[in-house]
Amino acid sequence: MSSNESPTIKAFDSEAIRAGNFALGIDHEKVARETDSLMARMSLAQKINEIRGSQPKPIEGLYYAGGDDSLGLAPWKMVDGPRGARAGTATAFPVAIARAASFDADLERRVGGAIGLEVAARGGNVLLAPTINLLRHPGWGRAQETYSEDPYHTGVMGLAFVCGAQNHVLTSPKHFALNNLENTRFELSSEIDARSLHEVYLPHFKRCVVEGGAASVMSAYNKLNGVYCGEQRLLLDEILREDWGFRGFVESDWFLGTRSTAPALNAGLDIEMPAAFRFADDKLEEALACGELTEELIHRSARRSVYQKIAWQLTPDGVAGRPRPDPEVVECREHVALAREAAEKSIVLLKNEAEVLPLCAGPGVSIAVVGDLANLANLGDRGSSMVTPSFVSKPLQAIESAAAGATVEYFESHVDLARLADFDVAIVVAGLTYRDEGEFIPTAQQEAEDTGFARGGDRVDLDLPLPQRDLIERAAASAKRIVVVLQGGSAIVVRDWIDRVDGLLLTWYGGQEGGTALARVLFGEVSPSGRLPVSIPRNMDQLMPWDVTALIVEHDLLPGYRWLDHHRQEVEFPFGFGLGYTTFEIEDLRMMRGHDSFLCHVDVRNTGAQRGATVVQLYVSCRDSRVFRVEKELKGFGRVELAPGATVTLEIEVEDTDLRFYDADSGGWELEECRYEFRVGSSSADLPLAAEWRREEGEWRKSNP
Ligand code: BGC
Repeated sequence: MSSNESPTIKAFDSEAIRAGNFALGIDHEKVARETDSLMARMSLAQKINEIRGSQPKPIEGLYYAGGDDSLGLAPWKMVDGPRGARAGTATAFPVAIARAASFDADLERRVGGAIGLEVAARGGNVLLAPTINLLRHPGWGRAQETYSEDPYHTGVMGLAFVCGAQNHVLTSPKHFALNNLENTRFELSSEIDARSLHEVYLPHFKRCVVEGGAASVMSAYNKLNGVYCGEQRLLLDEILREDWGFRGFVESDWFLGTRSTAPALNAGLDIEMPAAFRFADDKLEEALACGELTEELIHRSARRSVYQKIAWQLTPDGVAGRPRPDPEVVECREHVALAREAAEKSIVLLKNEAEVLPLCAGPGVSIAVVGDLANLANLGDRGSSMVTPSFVSKPLQAIESAAAGATVEYFESHVDLARLADFDVAIVVAGLTYRDEGEFIPTAQQEAEDTGFARGGDRVDLDLPLPQRDLIERAAASAKRIVVVLQGGSAIVVRDWIDRVDGLLLTWYGGQEGGTALARVLFGEVSPSGRLPVSIPRNMDQLMPWDVTALIVEHDLLPGYRWLDHHRQEVEFPFGFGLGYTTFEIEDLRMMRGHDSFLCHVDVRNTGAQRGATVVQLYVSCRDSRVFRVEKELKGFGRVELAPGATVTLEIEVEDTDLRFYDADSGGWELEECRYEFRVGSSSADLPLAAEWRREEGEWRKSNP
C-alpha cells in the first residue's frame, strides 16, 4: 500500500491525553475572587491550620491536612502512590518503569485514571504521584517508581498519568527535585548548573505543571546546590511559580522534608506533611515574634491550599461536586484488565535465539519452571509505593493454566537441576525483590539488621544477587533450551550469563496481573512490545560513577544514553530497544514545516506473520552548535500496533521549543541557528532514517540530501 492510502495516526495526541482533566477547566478569575473573600474571613489560627498535616500516621491510608467545617473547607486527604492506591486493598498495577516500557501515553493516561478513581473511592482527594525524578543512574533504589532516564519520555508519561488521574483527584508530581539517590536522601546535595537543571532534570516537571495543570507538587528531601529542596527558593518560587505559573500548593515530603519554619515558608513551601513539627504553633509564634516570618507569608501558603480546595470544589466526600465513587470500582474487572494490558505491554523481549519464543503448549511438550520467584507475588518495593491487591497472578500458576495441554513441573531454587535435561524447555524466573531495591525506610533498617536481609535502598551494583546468577548458570548447564524471565525495577547486568541462555524477557514488577501477562507472552497470545526506558550496560563501568554513600552528587547534561553516546560505550541493550514475534518496516521519512513545529511522517508496516506493536522513535542531533550538545536526544515517539501486512502513517510532531537549549548566561531558551539532524528508527541505536534542516537568519531550510 502506498503511503497516501494508509491511515495517519498521531504519535502524541495532546487533546486526547488532556481530556477530562478537571484542572484544565478551572475558571481562575472566579476562583481567585471566591478564595479572597473566604480568606478575608479566616483568622490566623484558621490559616495556620491549612498549612500542615493533621497526624503523623495515616488513617486507612489517608494523610489529612487542613479543613475547617465552620468555613466549609474540607480537609486534604492524601494517598500514595505511583502504582496504585495505598489505602486498603487496591489494584496493583505494574510499577511505573514497567508502564514506561510500553511507551504508550494513552495507556498511562488510563492507568492514572484508574488509580485516581480508586483513590477517590477510598476517600482520598490528593494522589501522591507520579514520581518523575529522572533516573540519573539505574542503581537508584526507587528506579521502579519513576519512568525513565530520558526527560522527554518521562515528561510524556508523567503528563499522561497526571491528566488521567486528575479526572478524579488532584495529583502531586514528586519529588521536586533531583531526588535520585536513596540511601543518603535526607542529607544529600544534588549539585547542578542552570543549563542541566532546565534541560534535563526539570522539563518533565514543567510538562506536568504547565500542560497538565498538576494541582500540587511534593518537594524533595535532598538539597539542591546546598539548600534543602523544601526551602529552595529557586525551585519553589522562581521556577515553579514565576516561570511556570504554578497555582497549586507545595507540600513537603514526609517528616524530614520540612527542615525549618521561616526559611521554608519564605521559600515557597506551603504545607508541612504529615504533621506539625516545624510548622507547629510554638515554632510559628517564635518566628513571627522575632520577625523572621510575617503573617502575610502564612496567608500566602494558606491561600494556595484554599485556592485549590475552591477550584476543585472539594467536599468532605469528593471533588468536583461529585459523590465519592462506589468502592466497587476498586479492583473492578476493568481495572484488573487494565493492569493486565499494562503488564503485557511492559514486557521487553531482549533475546530470542533461534526463536525459542513463543513456546508451544500442546500435548507432549514438557516445560520446567524454575526458581522461587516463579512462585512469589513479587510486586516491588515495600516503601510508600506499596500496594496491596486482594489477589496476585504468579508466574508458576499462570504458566500451569496457560499450558494445560503440556506437562509442567516446578523446580525450587535450591534443588538439583540435572533433570532439566529431560524437558523441552526450562523457564527460569530470576531477579530482584523489595529486599534488593526500593525506598529506604529507616524503621525497616532495624528489621534488616535483625533478619540479616538487606531491605530496600539503592543497589551498590547492577548484577543479580549471587544465588540468582547461580540458579541461571545451573539451569543453563542442564536445560536443552532455557528462557530467563527477569524481574526487577531497573537495569540488570546480564553479561555473565546472557550467552548461555536462549531467551530473555524483562518483566519488571508486573503488578497483580503480571503472571497472566507473562504466560500470554510466553505462549504467543500477544507479541512482546515493551522497549527499554533505561539502557542496560555490559557492566557498571560503562556508566557514570555511582556511590550510594555520596553526600554530594554532581549532575550534568549526561544521564543515561547521553552519557553512553558521549563516552562511545556500546551497551548490552540500548535505550528504546526491544524485540517482538513479528517484524516491522519503518520507511519513507517525510518532514514538513507546521506552525512553529516539524511534522514528521513515516510509514510503518507489519512485515511479519503476527499482530504486534513497535515503538517508532525520533531523536534530534544539533550540529555546528556554538555550545556543547549531547550526541542525540529523544524528541518524539509513537507506539503503533498493527495486524500482519497492515501499514499506517505515523505523524510525530516536534515543536521548535523542543529544539532549544538553555542559555545560562542570558537565563533564557534559545533556538539556535545551526543544523538539526532528525533521525528515526526503532531504538536509540537503530536510526536508519534521517533528514537534516538548517536554521538560518530566522528561517528553516531543508539541507540537500
Ligand atoms: C516518600 C514519598 C511518599 C511519602 C508518604 C515519603 O517517605 O518519599 O514519596 O509520598 O513518604 O508516604
